[in-house]
Amino acid sequence: MASQKSRVLHRSLRETPPKAIGGDGMWLIAEDGRRILDGSGGAAVSCLGHQHPRVLEAMSRQASKLAYAHTGFFSSEPAEALADHLLGDEPGGLAYAYFVSGGSEAIEAGIKLARQYFIERGEPRRQHFIARRQSYHGNTLGALAAGGNAWRREPYAPLLSSAFSHVTPAFAYHEKRDHESEADFVARLAAELEAEFQRLGPDTVAAFVAEPVVGATAGCVPAPEGYFRSVRDICNRHGALLILDEVMCGMGRTGTRHAWEQEGIAPDIQAVAKGLGGGYQPIGAMLASGRIIDTIRQGSGAFQHGHTYLAHPMACAAALEVQKIISEEGLIESVKERGAQLERRLTERFGNHRHVGDIRGRGLFQAIELVADRATRTPFDPALKLNQRIKAIAFEGGLGCYPGGGTMDGRSGDHVLLAPPYIATSNDIDMIVDRLGHAVDGALKMVGH
Ligand SMILES: Cc1ncc(COP(=O)(O)O)c(C=O)c1O
Repeated sequence: MASQKSRVLHRSLRETPPKAIGGDGMWLIAEDGRRILDGSGGAAVSCLGHQHPRVLEAMSRQASKLAYAHTGFFSSEPAEALADHLLGDEPGGLAYAYFVSGGSEAIEAGIKLARQYFIERGEPRRQHFIARRQSYHGNTLGALAAGGNAWRREPYAPLLSSAFSHVTPAFAYHEKRDHESEADFVARLAAELEAEFQRLGPDTVAAFVAEPVVGATAGCVPAPEGYFRSVRDICNRHGALLILDEVMCGMGRTGTRHAWEQEGIAPDIQAVAKGLGGGYQPIGAMLASGRIIDTIRQGSGAFQHGHTYLAHPMACAAALEVQKIISEEGLIESVKERGAQLERRLTERFGNHRHVGDIRGRGLFQAIELVADRATRTPFDPALKLNQRIKAIAFEGGLGCYPGGGTMDGRSGDHVLLAPPYIATSNDIDMIVDRLGHAVDGALKMVGH
């Protein structure tokens, strides 16, 4: 017999994960028959759960007509229909969609579009991008340079462009000082951003880049009231663009189609991905304002970028059906309702837990942050790998959740992110919190707490 060694380069080189062989709504089925309740949609991807018959049917219909045509020669029915579905009413002035294969590609496209826009406007000096520490914008080199997570950046630092600089995130739990009101905190962050524009030279800044609700690196962190209005004002005042990364928090996840709708502002460029196709196909999109595209149309006439799989017909067909289902079945309303329940249940279960310092998020995008000491918000020693232990115990207990480390500063801190599919029932939510409770207590016990 040949060895059973896996030749797939897995995330861990020490262990091979079990094979997933099936899916059934909220559940993933492993090769040994175990059923795992998908409490995080993988990484906030599977917004409709698994094996939704309508999406499978739409993919099969498209496959039987046309699987692929290069965008250098053709557009396709699903790409046109998906763009109309997303942007027909031009939300916040966003009028064009550039379909790519994931979140990192969407961010890369946004950064390049911003740069090209300013060249064509006759402002080639605009070459700086300001983003925030503890953010994540993807793993390709441009997106990684935009991101502010110390651990992810460190090995690649010599390769990352100095066009990107980082300011303090709107992360109240760690960054707001005890004597500060929320308004004071927002004012301090705004002053810091203004100072960064001044340091770089305001007419050299192309854009500010941020996640409206920070995802994987910090664990579902919404900004305090008024923060994004201040940011928008500063960008407007200096003629810079606002790029919002809704790869994780977008497409209904927080209870509105776009997370920015809850901030009273709109971006000039937006990245979406995960919930766009719900995992049925790899797809992301860069959405751009009509003003930017009109400038380029009147200039060179083409966005100087591209990939082989732009606007892939199979991916667009799957995403179109996912989005139609979300609209037709009122699933964003469900996100609000089930999200409120999730927040309530997390608060009941962990509100008085001595090692849960914060419960936060929006809609079906909620996280708990674990701390060694609630009073001082001191994190656990990262060597304990608490978040990884929680993940393993939860998985053993039949729950998929999305824990992360480095919550506080990219090195220390532990959180667990939940992002259940929008089809979750009230029972599913109860079961997720119940199983998470066991996993958290089990992991804490293992590390002597
Ligand atoms: C906010 C955010 N931006 C960008 C990305 C990168 O997306 P992808 O992994 O599809 O390239 C992610 C992925 O987790 C993300 O959460």
